[in-house]
Amino acid sequence: MPALVLLGAQWGDEGKGKATDLLGGSVDYVVRYQGGNNAGHTVVVGDQKYALHLLPSGILSPGCTPVIGNGVVVDPSVLLSELSGLNERGVDTSKLLLSGNAHLITPYHTEVDKVTERFLGKRKIGTTGRGIGPAYADKINRVGIRVQDLFDESILTQKVEAALDFKNQVLAKLYNRRAIRTEQIVDELLGYAEELRGYVADTTLILNNAVDEGKVVLFEGGQGTLLDVDHGTYPFVTSSNPTAGGACTGAGVGPTKINRVIGILKAYTTRVGAGPFPTELLDADGEALRTIGGERGVTTGRDRRCGWFDAVIARYATRVNGLTDFFLTKLDVLTGWERIPVCVGYEVDGERVDELPQSQSDFHHAKPVYEYLPGWSEDITRAKSFSDLPKNAQNYVKSLEEMSGAPISAIGVGPGRDETIQINSFL
Ligand code: GDP
Ligand code: IMO
Ligand code: MG
Repeated sequence: MPALVLLGAQWGDEGKGKATDLLGGSVDYVVRYQGGNNAGHTVVVGDQKYALHLLPSGILSPGCTPVIGNGVVVDPSVLLSELSGLNERGVDTSKLLLSGNAHLITPYHTEVDKVTERFLGKRKIGTTGRGIGPAYADKINRVGIRVQDLFDESILTQKVEAALDFKNQVLAKLYNRRAIRTEQIVDELLGYAEELRGYVADTTLILNNAVDEGKVVLFEGGQGTLLDVDHGTYPFVTSSNPTAGGACTGAGVGPTKINRVIGILKAYTTRVGAGPFPTELLDADGEALRTIGGERGVTTGRDRRCGWFDAVIARYATRVNGLTDFFLTKLDVLTGWERIPVCVGYEVDGERVDELPQSQSDFHHAKPVYEYLPGWSEDITRAKSFSDLPKNAQNYVKSLEEMSGAPISAIGVGPGRDETIQINSFL
């Protein structure tokens, strides 16, 4: 049975946490394959609200084994505090599996993230400041520290020394910061080793066996398609591949084993941090979407930038991820608008375009071309089936589906687990 990828189709915060949690009950493994604790995934179960950063959202489903794959960057202090926070609330986390090949975020990565952003000034990316970019940079530069290094003090010391050799020059000479001592980092990291040892496993082997045995494996993306380092709005992106291919490299499972790729798509658009955003609203409508949608970052508490739905982006997400389905979230937030603008194309320097412009400069100049769909005023939060939705809400969903290039198989009408209309099964 299926191996599914569930990922963000826009700029993150589409409601991936809720979608993963919803499927969690019927899934054997939920796997994070990229990113780190830059993610903020909210899951609402009954009257309990959970904010997850590094752990897969499936951790809240008792039958499900949560996995942190090799493609994730792991801040061990964050991982342990997230685990103990969940344990205090009665969540069993003992099944967690952690890839020994995952790279670690150390205090020097968070330090470099913050000073680099400060140094960039008005050109900054607006990162989450969690050390994500510098940790991935070290991975690619082959000076990263991996989870498995925690269990060999001599190797760990050599590797930290090698990483700090260069970094301390930069910190001291360029950023005027104090150098970081190797022993301080090694001592801190060794302090996490014993607590983490029991979770470490050959996750690629386990996951491939699981898929071969017909278990249901769900790969949960962090961030979103437009934040992908290859396919997003570079350089205003994160430093990993949230797109579907990232699930293969970030978990060690081949593309022939993936059956379904589900894009989580908000019924409007949000973005946190800097970078182009054609449908952004800087007016009362933007403020209303932010307030009604509760659009404030789970990780950094920053207000999210808000705008209308952008079908060009949705089509692009279908293409670069090979999406088989969409899960449309937060439809309830749009209740009350008399008519709802939807961006169907762009105007770039006087020319109409229907696809995401290839050049960054063109995308920065892209002006949305809107179509206006009739709104609805009825409360839809209790709708259980598509036919329970008012006609205009049905029409909104159908129009988005036609524009976006893949079937909308589920619709979110509220944050709770049960506030979902399932149209086609994902399994
Ligand atoms: P993620 O990063 O993609 O997991 O999304 P976040 O958790 O950062 O942000 C999504 C927010 O929307 C959370 O507060 C969810 O509880 C909430 N949410 C998810 N689906 C729905 C929905 O269908 N309706 C409403 N009103 N809220 C939703
Ligand atoms: P979830 O998983 C929204 C954004 C940051 C910044 C850029 C780079 O909750 O959808 P980074 O710290 O990753 O180097 O920052 O990416 N960003 C997110 N935006 N949701 C997220 O995660 C994000 N993770 C990173 O705001 O613009
Ligand atoms: Mg989020």
